[in-house]
Amino acid sequence: MILVTGGAGFIGANFVLDWLATSDESIVNLDRLTYAGNRQSLASLSGDDRHIFVHGDIGDGELGARLLAQYAPRAIINFAAESHVDRSIHGPADFIQTNIVGTFQLLESVRAYWKQLPEEGRQSFRFLHVSTDEVYGSLAPDAPAFTEDHPYQPNSPYSASKAASDHLLRAYHHTYGLPVLTTNCSNNYGPFQFPEKLIPLMIVNALAGKRLPVYGDGQQIRDWLYVGDHCAAIRRVLAAGVPGATYNVGGGNEKANLDIVHTICGLLDELRPRPDGRAYREQITYVTDRPGHDRRYAIDARRIERELGWRPAESFASGIDRTVRWYLANQDWVHNVQSGAYREWVEKNYADRQKMGS
Ligand code: NAD
Ligand code: DAU
Repeated sequence: MILVTGGAGFIGANFVLDWLATSDESIVNLDRLTYAGNRQSLASLSGDDRHIFVHGDIGDGELGARLLAQYAPRAIINFAAESHVDRSIHGPADFIQTNIVGTFQLLESVRAYWKQLPEEGRQSFRFLHVSTDEVYGSLAPDAPAFTEDHPYQPNSPYSASKAASDHLLRAYHHTYGLPVLTTNCSNNYGPFQFPEKLIPLMIVNALAGKRLPVYGDGQQIRDWLYVGDHCAAIRRVLAAGVPGATYNVGGGNEKANLDIVHTICGLLDELRPRPDGRAYREQITYVTDRPGHDRRYAIDARRIERELGWRPAESFASGIDRTVRWYLANQDWVHNVQSGAYREWVEKNYADRQKMGS
């Protein structure tokens, strides 16, 4: 079996669902169920004994050791993290704790477990760390896309904490020989993404008749990848990646934020027209920019394509259409994750962002 951390979050839940749809290998899923973890995302697995959910923290070394001894996984995939840049600006402490200290504790438990495995088990064991392109910093408009050799230049507390965890992985491989793999992926979108991130926030706000808050001039560029393609890349790296190597994963879909918001508005105009017959884009509001906002990310994914034969299956047009339809069809899920804590966050992040125009 494999052990997955953070499997009740956005990418983790998609990964667990995809894995169990295509394989009979069981999954132990360790998740602290922060605001971003939602067991409802895994509701379709209820009664499936291939999925063992454990409520706990990756920073709890004793729990990690106990789970490793009990289930003897052949691999670990570490999705667990604090993942939202704006939250890291308002309060970095949780990011340091989970992303750095938590990853360190998990690595320590794994190192002790791995050391006592028989030779064959030590050779085949893998620790796959799911990381981000944000560790590379921001690109100028005409600069080439990030390769795996791009210097680390993280700019937010979130990306700095992810960079630190990547360095720990590297050190555990170099020093102890732990067979680690790291993936650095671009922006994901798709079902079960918490509506604090750009795409689900815009869908949810549009339907609720609220403003669509575009930071700064809306010309920041991200490289968008459908979450199912990210999950397929992780499965491929786990199966065939070279221990110690890092793999960039991206969709080759560089888009400005404003274009993304216009696309969502256009889809909603077609699929769920506003009751007053007006266009959703009228709700777009330019607001104060994110401090230290990275201008552009772009991924050079040629290594994973060449060496492991992975390529995204979904185009941006098909992926965003599926995503908007998913949110329209899953309003209950959206409603259930919008707890009091969610409303407090929205108040904190957007109340002091002044309107700059529309
Ligand atoms: P998410 O915030 O939706 O989910 C994170 C999950 O981790 C939640 O289920 C949460 O409960 C759990 N968690 C948090 N702290 C924990 C702890 N201390 N112990 C155990 N579980 C804990 O995040 P996501 O968007 O699914 O991202 C998953 C991973 O992928 C993260 O490591 C993130 O850095 C990385 N990543 C995300 C993207 C993206 O676009 N979302 C892109 C590239 C890489
Ligand atoms: O690049 C990979 C990263 O992508 C992941 O490592 C992170 O976990 C993930 O959150 C994401 O980070 P971003 O900061 O790029 O994603 P976010 O959805 O928060 O913002 C996307 C862009 O949209 C960014 O330029 C900020 C902008 N934005 C975001 C929000 C929430 C707005 O203009 N308005 C908003 O309300």
